[in-house]
Amino acid sequence: MSSLTERFQAHFGHPATVLAEAPGRLEILGNHTDYNEGFVLSCAVRQKVRVVLAPSGGDLCRLKDFRNGSEKTFLRSEAGHAIRHDWSNYVKGVIVELEKRGFTIGGFDAALLSDVPLSAGMSSSAALETAFGLAIGAAFHVDLPKEEWARVGQGVENSYLGLQTGLLDQFSSLFGQEGALILSDFRSVEVLRTVALPAGYGIVVVNSMVKHNLVDSEYNTRRADCRSAAEKLAGRYPGAVTLRDISPEQLEAARDCLTEQEYLRAAHVVGECDRVMRGVAALDAGDAVAFGQLLYESHESSRKHFANSSPEQDALIELGRQTAGGIGARLSGGGFGGITVHLVQTEKMEDYGRAVAAGFEKQYGVVPEVIFSAPGAGASVCMLTEKE
Ligand code: GLA
Repeated sequence: MSSLTERFQAHFGHPATVLAEAPGRLEILGNHTDYNEGFVLSCAVRQKVRVVLAPSGGDLCRLKDFRNGSEKTFLRSEAGHAIRHDWSNYVKGVIVELEKRGFTIGGFDAALLSDVPLSAGMSSSAALETAFGLAIGAAFHVDLPKEEWARVGQGVENSYLGLQTGLLDQFSSLFGQEGALILSDFRSVEVLRTVALPAGYGIVVVNSMVKHNLVDSEYNTRRADCRSAAEKLAGRYPGAVTLRDISPEQLEAARDCLTEQEYLRAAHVVGECDRVMRGVAALDAGDAVAFGQLLYESHESSRKHFANSSPEQDALIELGRQTAGGIGARLSGGGFGGITVHLVQTEKMEDYGRAVAAGFEKQYGVVPEVIFSAPGAGASVCMLTEKE
């Protein structure tokens, strides 16, 4: 198989000038905390989107996805027009976000290859936005700090696709570190530190195969519930701005000022922020089992409080609990379908994956995708020389 740059040259008849790569991500602990200005432990993965691109000199943008052969063409002046369920929206959205920030973007040819599973909860869309952002940025002299590139991708989701997501996905794709989890604070929007996975344990990703499509999900409703809970709690605790400012004890003490639904949603987010910090302490103390327990608790809270799990994901967690080698598991990402992450003894990972997959197939008649994952490096971009 020839390289992506060679395929670009063969397809468009001229060389690419820029190469950008952006990985998918796994949310390890800290569910729906990002837009509540809370904490998350996450990592970038080895699976990534690779984009090669060259300015075309005109106003036309031509896109080619070599994974499935799909081709898209639009005039740069039409970038503001989204077409329902069309992947070129992610690219058009990036152009719109950059123009909003005062940059002038010309027409270009671009080709991509991706091995990030689609609609699984591993942030294939954030990886696409980030890779295109960096590639377009390098080609058209847009120099932004990494956190602003994360906001560009988030802006595509928020204003272009109408999904009120936080910064976690793009941020993890940009700031991921090879071999480590990152602990991020979404109030200061920074990586506080890296945290190593416990020695002797690895991550097994098991996809419930329930398509996780946040655009048609209750994601925005959850976000609105969190906001109204935070507003009411601020009346009780002056100075509190978001759910990040509320401790589990404070939430219990002020339960009477919330509706039952607001209380449940807040209990999840407040609990998750607390679990992230306890999780980091457990990892620092070398207590892998305590960390794994927090993953189980996180899933239970998703199920009971936040109602963002699915029967299939619950089944995968339950199967994991019954399988040797596993010490923790939870849904990862927005929820409402998609993947689960499992912390498993390294030497048992393959057997574990096989056993959970077999159990799931027996119950649902569907073979779930199993990925043996590891924290990978964050996004990067480089200019290509003639020889490449
Ligand atoms: C999705 C969103 C993120 C975050 C997670 C849940 O992945 O895109 O911003 O809210 O869900 O933690």
